Amino acid sequence: MCGIVGYVGDKQCLPVLIEGLKRLEYRGYDSAGIALINGRDLIVVKDAGKIRNLEDEIRRTDLPAACLGIAHTRWATHGAPTRENAHPHVDCRHRIAVVHNGIIENNVALRQKLEAEGHRFTTETDTEVLAHLIEKYYEGSLEQAVRKALLLVEGTYGIAVVSADEPNRIVGARNGSPLVVGVGRGEYFIASDVSAMLRHTRQVIYLDDKEIVTLTTEGFTTTTILDRPVDKLIEEISWDLEQIEKEGFDHFMLKEIFEQPRCIENALRGRLVGEDGTAHLGGLNMTTEELRSVDRIIITACGTSWHAAMIGEYMIEEHARVPVEVEYASEFRYRNPIVRPGTLVIVISQSGETADTLAAMREAQRKGARALGIVNVVGSTIARESDGGVYIHAGPEIGVASTKAFTSQVAVLSVLTLCLARLHALSRPEGQRIVQELHSLPEKMSRILDSAPSIARIADTYARHNNFLFLGRGYSFPVALEGALKLKEISYIHAEGYPAAEMKHGPIALIDENMPVVFVCTRDSGYEKVLSNMEEVRARKGRIIAIASEGDEMMRTKADHVIFIPQTLEKLTPILAVVPLQLLAYYIAVRRGCNVDQPRNLAKSVTVE
Ligand code: AGP
Repeated sequence: MCGIVGYVGDKQCLPVLIEGLKRLEYRGYDSAGIALINGRDLIVVKDAGKIRNLEDEIRRTDLPAACLGIAHTRWATHGAPTRENAHPHVDCRHRIAVVHNGIIENNVALRQKLEAEGHRFTTETDTEVLAHLIEKYYEGSLEQAVRKALLLVEGTYGIAVVSADEPNRIVGARNGSPLVVGVGRGEYFIASDVSAMLRHTRQVIYLDDKEIVTLTTEGFTTTTILDRPVDKLIEEISWDLEQIEKEGFDHFMLKEIFEQPRCIENALRGRLVGEDGTAHLGGLNMTTEELRSVDRIIITACGTSWHAAMIGEYMIEEHARVPVEVEYASEFRYRNPIVRPGTLVIVISQSGETADTLAAMREAQRKGARALGIVNVVGSTIARESDGGVYIHAGPEIGVASTKAFTSQVAVLSVLTLCLARLHALSRPEGQRIVQELHSLPEKMSRILDSAPSIARIADTYARHNNFLFLGRGYSFPVALEGALKLKEISYIHAEGYPAAEMKHGPIALIDENMPVVFVCTRDSGYEKVLSNMEEVRARKGRIIAIASEGDEMMRTKADHVIFIPQTLEKLTPILAVVPLQLLAYYIAVRRGCNVDQPRNLAKSVTVE
C-alpha cells in the first residue's frame, strides 16, 4: 500500500504535494519522492525514509517554481526501501515520470523484453517497467501511451503519470488500487484517497477499475482503458480527515480486519501454479534440489506470528512429511538448539524487527542454518539479513493487534507448503485442490465479514465478563490461541487458549455459568471430539460461543451462540475461523471503552528483549 498525490492548477504545487504526502503517510512510509514539471523540464527529487527526509532533500535542492506535479509515499513490495527504488520512476530519456500503488505481476517478463529492446533500468522495482513501457509507446499523446502500456500489464495499479513533453497534463489510471480525482476551481488533484486533497476541495470523483483520467487546468476527461468515454459523478465528501485515513472505519484494527480478503489475494498473487498444483516463490533463493534435501524445519517467531508458525508446522508435516519444530524466538535464542546441515530455519515476523526473532535468526545462521524470513515490512532487518524469504504483502498494519498479517502469514505458509509438498508426498490433484481452495478464500472471508453485526450483538452480551476460554483441536488449536491473544490484548480480559481435549486436565475447574467458552468446532477431523468437549462445558453450565461450518444447524442446539463460516479444506480453515474471533475481540474491546488501536503497555514492534 503506497500513497499517491498529484496536482495541476495555478498554485505552486510543492506545498500541496508535501501536505498531501503527509496525509497519506499512514499508507506507507519507507521512502518518498516528487516529480515536478516546470513548463519544460521534469525534475525529480526523492529520498529513503520518512517524508521529513524528502523535505530536507528538497531544501538542499534549488527547485524551480512549478504548478504541476506528482508525489508518492512508498510501502515497498519489490526492492528495498532505498532512494533509488523510491518513486517517481522515470524513463530512459528522463521525460516521463510515474508514481504507482499496486503490484505489476508480470514485471519480470516485461522488464526482460524492454531491456532486450535497449531500455536501461536503474531500480529493483516492478513499477519502473511502466515508465519504460509508456516511453516505448509515446508518440505525442501521453494518455494513449499510458493506455497502450496498461493493456500489457497484469496486476494492480493506481498510477499518476506526467511528461515534460505535455507540461499541462497528468494522466491517472486504476485497477485494483484506489484513485480519486479532486475537482477544484481551475485546479485538479489526483490521490490514493481524499485525505490528500481535503483541505483544497470536497468535490471528488472515484475512478473505477480499468479507467483512465486526464487532468489539465481546463478540466478532466475519463475513459475506459479501451478508450470509451465514461461519465463520472462528482460527489461531495462529508467525512473528516481521521475518518478518511481509516476509510470510514472507526479504528485501524477494524479496517485491517475488513482488508483481509484483499490481503489474501495479494499474498497469493502470482505465486500459485494451478495446472501443476504447486507454487513458485522466487525469493527463497533455493534450488529445487536444495529444497528437496531439507530434512528438518524449525519455525521461530513471537506472539501472533508464532501462532501462524504452528499452523505452518501442521501443514508442512501433513503434506511435505518433513519434521517441523516451532519455537518461541525468545527461547530459541538462549537455548543451544541443534542445527544440522539439512535444517532449514524459517522466521516469521510482521514487522521484521522483533528483537527476539531477529536474535533467534542470527543464532541459527551462526550455527550454519539457512534462514528464510516470512515478513511483511520490506527492507526490515529480518528481510535484509535472512538468506531468502517471502513477503506477505499485507500492506502497513497500523493497529497494534495483528490481524491481516496473521491471515496473510498463514496464506504464505500454505503456499510454501505447496512448494515443499509437491517435491515430496503431495500428488498433483491434491495440489490442484489446494490451489483451487486458496483462490476461493477471499470470497469466503467476505461472507464472514458480512456477519459482523451479529458478532457485535454477541459482544454486547459478553463484554462485561472477565474471563474467557478458547478451545479447538488440530488446526483449530492455534486459532483458539490467537482468539484468546486478540481478546486479552485489546480488551484486557483474561483469556486462555487450549487444545479442547486438554480442558479436562485442569481448565474445566473454571467452568461455571460465568465462564464463556469459545469453541472452534468446524466440520473437520476433530469435529465429533470437540462436540463431546462442548457437552462437558454445557454440563457445568458454561456459556458456549461456537464457530461452526455453514449448514451445521445442529450446532444451534449445542451452543448459546453460533457464528457460521463457509467450509474449506481443514488446513485452510484457520484463515477463515480466526476472522470472527478478531471481530469478537474488537467489538468487546469497543464495548469496554478500550483503546483498540493502541492498547496499554503494548507496542507495534517489540524491538527490545
Ligand atoms: C499481535 O497482535 C501482537 N501485537 C504481537 O504478539 C506480535 O505478533 C509479536 O510481537 C510479533 O511481532 P512480529 O510479527 O512483528 O515479529
